[in-house]
Amino acid sequence: MTTTHQGDNQQDLADEKHLAERLSHFDLFSWEDQRVKWELFDYARGRCPVAHTDGNGGFYIVSRYEDVRRVMEDWETFSSTESPLVPTGVPSLCPIDDDPPIQSAARQLLNPLFSRKALAPYEEAMHQTAEDLIDAFVDRGSAEILNEYAGPYVGRMLTKVIFNDLTDEELNAAQELALAVAEGATPELFGQLFVMCTEYLERAKKRGITGDGVLARLVGGRFGDRPITQEEQVGCLGILVLGGLDTTRAAIGNIAYRLTQHPGLEDRLRNPAWVRRDMDEFLRLDSPVAAMARVATRDVELNGVLIRKGERVQVRFDSANRDTAKFRDADQLVFDEARSGHAAFGMGVHRCVGSNMARMQIEIAFEELLKRVKNVRLAPAADIKWVPGQSNALHTVDIEFDRVG
Ligand code: HEM
Repeated sequence: MTTTHQGDNQQDLADEKHLAERLSHFDLFSWEDQRVKWELFDYARGRCPVAHTDGNGGFYIVSRYEDVRRVMEDWETFSSTESPLVPTGVPSLCPIDDDPPIQSAARQLLNPLFSRKALAPYEEAMHQTAEDLIDAFVDRGSAEILNEYAGPYVGRMLTKVIFNDLTDEELNAAQELALAVAEGATPELFGQLFVMCTEYLERAKKRGITGDGVLARLVGGRFGDRPITQEEQVGCLGILVLGGLDTTRAAIGNIAYRLTQHPGLEDRLRNPAWVRRDMDEFLRLDSPVAAMARVATRDVELNGVLIRKGERVQVRFDSANRDTAKFRDADQLVFDEARSGHAAFGMGVHRCVGSNMARMQIEIAFEELLKRVKNVRLAPAADIKWVPGQSNALHTVDIEFDRVG
């Protein structure tokens, strides 16, 4: 017995050493780190909740729910400027790369445009877009959810809402580019997206902007007592596309995957109550935005670790959302209790501006899908891989199903 315990202890120590070592080099883009990520963050939360990694240029990884909250709520100490997790190669994106007061001025302008009420006029188009996409694969009895459904659906609707006063031709071009960005977010595509936003702004200004959409508010609006600069206008358009695309697409793919893993879930989602009752639990478990970054504006202690002015922190929403100090059975979907306070849409001043839109898109995507298909299952050749990076997103979700009726 004693020998076994000693052996177990030694194995535990070796495992811990291995995890500590791996955490100290954690690299967002490593497939190997991605594979063991939940084990790593579980270890981090237990043993070194603010761990330093030399990966991706050096970060303190903040893994516990309460620490994540503290960082997100203290924007004066943990700034969003000069802190991108992944360099985009494009100029600053307003409001995500700004702090108050510019960030709050931008939010004042954007929030009303993404309220449930403001989005209601797009609801019918969302249903129609989803239906059209399903038409294209329903007879086949199979689909790859991310690229045949979620990507084009989210891309089409997002561009329609953001660029709502464009001509059909311009909108088509924007949608094609959005789809390309959703399929592979390379620096080249980011660059093209910014060129596109700049050109659209220019053309829209020349033509005269009508209505009360995003463009109208950006061009006619003010941040406090000054006009909004061209760079801020372009950054704002760009982050709305980037912020809304991969995230909602990933969320739809993740939920579809969970449906294939738990047969009872499909019926749960046929009940419209799932939207208020269960959607957040899916978002908590597979937080589509895995992490964001902040930079310390002064020397600060976080959970016993001194972070010096200018050092960056990687705030892990996904790890916070699996913190058992906050959520019981955090690695499982738990529907039998009211869970609240997940971090999937962020916290504090930068909390997602598009959360209403995301929820609406997810709701309609599954309402339309489950009207037409049943017994959703993974295709035998499905290759389920979580892609490393800033998102919790699957590479592909190949499903098979039976037709309803
Ligand atoms: C399931 C889908 C989505 C998830 C999980 C998500 C998640 C997040 C998170 C975690 C943040 C906080 C970033 C930070 O603190 O640095 C954020 C901010 C943001 N999101 Fe979303 N988002 C989603 C959908 C959308 C959509 C549809 C849009 C566009 C309409 C959008 C636009 C933005 C913008 C512009 C910000 C920056 C807000 C600010 O800096 O004040 N997001 N989102």
